[in-house]
Amino acid sequence: MYRLITKKVLSSVHKLFEVDAPLVARKAKPGQFVILRVDDQGERIPLTIADADPERGTITIIFQEVGLTTQYLGAKESGEYLADFVGPLGKPMELPSPGGRVIAVGGGVGIAPVYPKVKALHNAGLNVISIIGARTREFLILEDEMRAVSAELHICTDDGSYGQHGFVSDILQQFLDDGKPIEEIIAVGPLPMMRVVANQTRPYGVKTLVSLNPIMVDGTGMCGACRVTVGGKTRFTCVDGPVFDAHQVDFDELRARAGMYLDKEKMALENCRCGGAH
Ligand code: NAD
Ligand code: FES
Repeated sequence: MYRLITKKVLSSVHKLFEVDAPLVARKAKPGQFVILRVDDQGERIPLTIADADPERGTITIIFQEVGLTTQYLGAKESGEYLADFVGPLGKPMELPSPGGRVIAVGGGVGIAPVYPKVKALHNAGLNVISIIGARTREFLILEDEMRAVSAELHICTDDGSYGQHGFVSDILQQFLDDGKPIEEIIAVGPLPMMRVVANQTRPYGVKTLVSLNPIMVDGTGMCGACRVTVGGKTRFTCVDGPVFDAHQVDFDELRARAGMYLDKEKMALENCRCGGAH
């Protein structure tokens, strides 16, 4: 059992927990994730490690309440427990060569997985230009944290309620057009966003990485649930990723696989008479 130490409500749908998990915290590296179960009947969900404090023995997770499990998780309070919390899983991120221009793009809840990557680059002495966006001001998370580790922070909202009016890809285009070389772009967010960014940067030949979060079950490369086609080859996100070359990812297949259980997820939510307030 893993104790939830701190809970923060970041927006009406985004929650943060610090989890007491000293063994995970000791080994966690930026880019890695955990798989948790809220209770022993629950499904396994992967969540990126947003922060790790090896001295306090804590892992920070941030999530958006989208389905039954994340609603159930969001209804937990500090002092309560999770049944399982397995990690760190996946490959840690690789640092780009120093000196080049690195751009990090975080869309919506994807800002949470982008943050530890930007923080690691910042701690390694690299200057990162960060672009973050959300549907509205209310759903923009981790602004202060991203500002603290970014050389420049650019903000946009779909409805123009905060920052520039538009998508993160609109701001990214301005950097692609300014003609200055870009060493690497890291983009994390919803699949449509990552696909748009991949298509946008391909003609410029700029190395572009995305962090994927497909459905996962075992997290050890055995079940195949998280498979993705990258450069024409089958890869398992849990052991070969979660970070992949955006220009090689088959986003059509990913999108189809991501929607495979949507009707069942909807049914589970509708059948839950408590409306998630467990
Ligand atoms: P959202 O739909 O609110 O989009 C967030 C931002 O992404 C937008 O404000 C916009 O700037 C950008 N964006 C979205 N669609 C775009 C498009 N077509 N073109 C260009 N930019 C676009 O996202 P959300 O509700 O916060 O995210 C939910 C999704 O994120 C879920 O599907 C979930 O699976 C996924 N997710 C991904 C990761 C990951 O590691 N990749 C982690 C958590 C969640
Ligand atoms: Fe089973 Fe990746 S989750 S192979």
